[in-house]
Amino acid sequence: MYSVAICGATGAVGIEVIRCLKELKFPLDKLTLYASARSAGKEIEGYIVEEFHAEAAGKHDFVFLCVSGDFSREYAQQIVDGGAVVIDNSSAFRYEENVPLVVPEINADSIGDSKLIANPNCTTAILAVALYPIYKEFGLKKVIVSTYQATSGAGQPAMDELKEQTQVVLDGGEASCENFAYPIPFNLIPQIDAFQENGYTKEEMKVTWETRKIFGDSDLKLSCTAVRIPTFRAHSEAVTVETEKEVDIDRVRGLIDAAPGVVLVDDPTNQKYPMPLNATGKFDVEAGRFRKNEVFDEYGLDFFVCGDQLLKGAALNAVQIAKALV
Ligand SMILES: NC(=O)c1ccc[n+]([C@@H]2O[C@H](COP(=O)([O-])OP(=O)(O)OC[C@H]3O[C@@H](n4cnc5c(N)ncnc54)[C@H](OP(=O)(O)O)[C@@H]3O)[C@@H](O)[C@H]2O)c1
Repeated sequence: MYSVAICGATGAVGIEVIRCLKELKFPLDKLTLYASARSAGKEIEGYIVEEFHAEAAGKHDFVFLCVSGDFSREYAQQIVDGGAVVIDNSSAFRYEENVPLVVPEINADSIGDSKLIANPNCTTAILAVALYPIYKEFGLKKVIVSTYQATSGAGQPAMDELKEQTQVVLDGGEASCENFAYPIPFNLIPQIDAFQENGYTKEEMKVTWETRKIFGDSDLKLSCTAVRIPTFRAHSEAVTVETEKEVDIDRVRGLIDAAPGVVLVDDPTNQKYPMPLNATGKFDVEAGRFRKNEVFDEYGLDFFVCGDQLLKGAALNAVQIAKALV
């Protein structure tokens, strides 16, 4: 049995880590919830939130960091030095060579004896579980991804903004924005995170960099366009791939059906396909709309995935990493 702490337990990801620990029956001896001084004393699921102190955090067996990149950069090493295994939800260490970046269904063996493990970007984790079986069977020449990302990807305050500002618009007012570059109600914003020199946003490049690291293939060609949309929860992604080998769509469906972490939802005749409303709250990523690609013919396919980015894209994947270590 293990002593576990969640830093950022009042946030969108932190709250889901509590749920995942329970649902995955993690062998918990003691659970401690940390947040900032603002939330100290607050009760969540019967636990009283404590103000974070790095020294106390290091005394646990496992610590989930669910705060921010700056916070992780400041405290992760100190917590590891205290003796804990740290699973970091931020992007702070994802690209460091000696820090494993893990989707357990794909590369659990990369954890080794590392005490600091990075959890991937939400869009990447959701894509990776569906893309990996196709990559293994048919090889990938090129991957093109367009995303439709929920407001919860930007944390609890962003979800609150969607709710409040939608009501403002419905009441005849003009929406304002704090968590996004533009008002989010009844809008789409083709910018998530900062623009890079190559014209992509950081979010888009994360999908490329991280998929390469998780698949262990630094040559993988992947281009992403990331768009924020006015939904509360669960990210969707339209994926087009050019394959090395000729593709058999029925075989792809069979592979997805058998793959862990992803469920096949692909019955167009009965209008069954992945959607954020259905994927919300579910552990498995939904994949469907599998079809031969009209541009790449026999050597390509298109499909659509939806996954709860607070679960497979964050809390669930983090708890699965911890479970792989006990
Ligand atoms: N949202 C997603 O879909 C998603 C997916 C994958 C990864 N991530 C990453 O996960 C991390 C958390 O994201 P989130 O969406 O859960 O953010 P969030 O909803 O804004 O929550 C942030 C949490 O951090 C706490 N916090 C802030 N400053 C602190 C401090 N100085 N000391 C201790 N705790 C502090 C907050 O506590 P208070 O209540 O005290 O303010 C809150 O619990 C981020 O690095 C994010 O990039 C998010």
